[in-house]
Amino acid sequence: MSDSYLIKGGKPLKGEVVLSGAKNVALKTIIAALMFKDDVILKNIPKINDVLDLIELIKSLGAKAEFKEKNTLIINSDNLKNNRVDLQYGSKIRVSFMLFAPLLHRFSECFVPNPGGCRIGARPIDRIINGLITLGIKVDYDSETGYYQAKIIDKPKGKYRFEKPSHTGTELLMLIGLMTDDKIEIDNIANEPEIDDLILYLTSAGANILEEGNKIIISKSPQLKQKEPFVIMSDRNELVTYATLAVASQGNVIIGPIKEGLIALFLEIMKKAGAGVEKIAKDKFRFFYQGKIKPVDIETSPHPGFMTDWQPSWAILMLTAEGESVIHERVFENRFSYVEELKKLGTKIDFIDVGVKNPENFYHFNYEKNKEYQQTIKIQGGNELHNAILNISDLRAGAALACAALLASGETVVNGASILERGYEDFVEKIKKLGGEIKKI
Ligand code: EPU
Repeated sequence: MSDSYLIKGGKPLKGEVVLSGAKNVALKTIIAALMFKDDVILKNIPKINDVLDLIELIKSLGAKAEFKEKNTLIINSDNLKNNRVDLQYGSKIRVSFMLFAPLLHRFSECFVPNPGGCRIGARPIDRIINGLITLGIKVDYDSETGYYQAKIIDKPKGKYRFEKPSHTGTELLMLIGLMTDDKIEIDNIANEPEIDDLILYLTSAGANILEEGNKIIISKSPQLKQKEPFVIMSDRNELVTYATLAVASQGNVIIGPIKEGLIALFLEIMKKAGAGVEKIAKDKFRFFYQGKIKPVDIETSPHPGFMTDWQPSWAILMLTAEGESVIHERVFENRFSYVEELKKLGTKIDFIDVGVKNPENFYHFNYEKNKEYQQTIKIQGGNELHNAILNISDLRAGAALACAALLASGETVVNGASILERGYEDFVEKIKKLGGEIKKI
């Protein structure tokens, strides 16, 4: 099967992009659907590889899942029969560990493998496992098989405080909270808007969840049952990919639908860089080139900061800036897999050390003293990009590489299309609609 793109770059991209549903909401709502009774109808679910793999996984557990129309997914888990997540699926889909919640809900015991996912650092789930144990769930790990065995002896209850916030961890413990007969409090939670969308989905089906600043309180909830189809929010990460590409290619692209609040910081930083940004409707923005791009340094952090998922796209815009810019990644280790690949196009990017004072606190991953990290890059903008053969090794880096190829002269081959397509729906079609020359080979 073809798994590469052939891209002929150098054209300004122009036109309109209709955003797909958010990957990081779709995956969670599908998993949470296994805690509902009767049919669950989810709308705006992107047909991306991660979603398709997850659907295969939940089917292997006995759930029914079927797309009606392009993006409407109907799930029914009334006949769930299997409490063991297959290793093959589990190692492919990192969020599969969220299945602890529906499987414990249904069977009181389950077997879930240590998760896989994109290669953007060690990505352990220690804080999450500690959370399960603190809330009263018995968890054992078998290092020979790589499986966790979790068991509910008494209904979960109590309080857990994340030492450092975790996005999926917050969501999983919230789902665990739905099994309490009492109350569960989770403190120092992550605040990503994708979590709010999941809360909306659950509360509209009867869940008792209260979000108060950095805390979530879940009280005894009835059996979840959907009253009406749930439409998931748009993918703001997809917006950032196309918006930066629009400006970097000296083009002009309208993007929507999106709520302004979800991208407020991104809009501010785009304006700081001199990019053209115009709100043309309540939920639509136009991103356009209006003259030289200025270098702007960024540092990633959880919401409401500059998202880690946006930094590879930011690097692409900064390649076109007049001067030097710095990107400091605080959330994940190894999120710079695109750097060596971009160098093949003739870019000048160096890893630098900015001397962080208290790295254990500053970084959101589990910082180890004796390990070497490369968390900061310096980009020298303004160089002409030429063609090359590039290899994708993680999702967001993949999108950045494909975008860089669209800026480069000549024909570039980008290998690993299926990794990019884990998270981007109709990438080839959307780029073509903007006038970009791209095809699968
Ligand atoms: N971490 C631990 N231990 C834990 C949990 C997290 O060390 O128990 C570390 C992680 O390794 C990471 C940091 O803490 O270095 C933050 O991790 P978090 O749990 O917040 O991230 P996540 O839930 O694994 C989700 C998204 C990511 C997105 C981040 C930040 C999904 C499926 N993934 O990851 O999206 O970048 O939150 O918002 O929701 C992507 O879409 O490409 C992607 C990676």
